Amino acid sequence: MEDEQAQHMDGLAVEGCPRCPSLVDSRSRIVNGTGPADADVLFVGEAPGAQEDAEGEPFVGRSGSVLDEQLRTVGLERESVRITNCVRCRPPDNRDPSTEELEHCRGYLEAEIDRVDPDVVVTLGKVPGEHLLGRSVAVTKEAGSVEEVRIGDTPRPVLICLHPAATLYDRSQEPAFAETIREAAAIAGVSPTDEGGQSRLGEY
Ligand code: URA
Repeated sequence: MEDEQAQHMDGLAVEGCPRCPSLVDSRSRIVNGTGPADADVLFVGEAPGAQEDAEGEPFVGRSGSVLDEQLRTVGLERESVRITNCVRCRPPDNRDPSTEELEHCRGYLEAEIDRVDPDVVVTLGKVPGEHLLGRSVAVTKEAGSVEEVRIGDTPRPVLICLHPAATLYDRSQEPAFAETIREAAAIAGVSPTDEGGQSRLGEY
């Protein structure tokens, strides 16, 4: 598997992976992570959606706008963080990735986390939280908590966060989402530039 992985990945970007036949059929392209290879904060989502599949970049749809806005509020520009997904190909009909698909992509995710070596890994939503923590996660309850988790060979702080889309479905989740992103910035040693700034999350 390691040789096969090396054939498709340089540590950050995957090319031409054939492991999941149904995702090979449904994807327009592989959506690799974006952001600096030495970012202090690494966000992990579930899988690309339609817009990510079309543009080849994670979190560029409505969820991405929510994430971007909150990042700006705490002084973390999108360009300064790494953003990736558990699975790099869009599942058909926006279904959740299967356990097998998550496992197929796991080595790529671990290699990317190893390479970036961030101060904190932030899981966006239930699927990445459970995938990296290896247990069931009640995201709404546990959002904001940090757990040390062995990823590959290295213990790393993992910060549980709501998926940004949760704030689109339920506005009452906005403060918890904002607070967790603020916490990620604090762990990375970034102080907010816009403390008094008025959040525009409520416009969604
Ligand atoms: N949701 C995700 O989990 N990942 C994306 O890239 C976009 C939306």
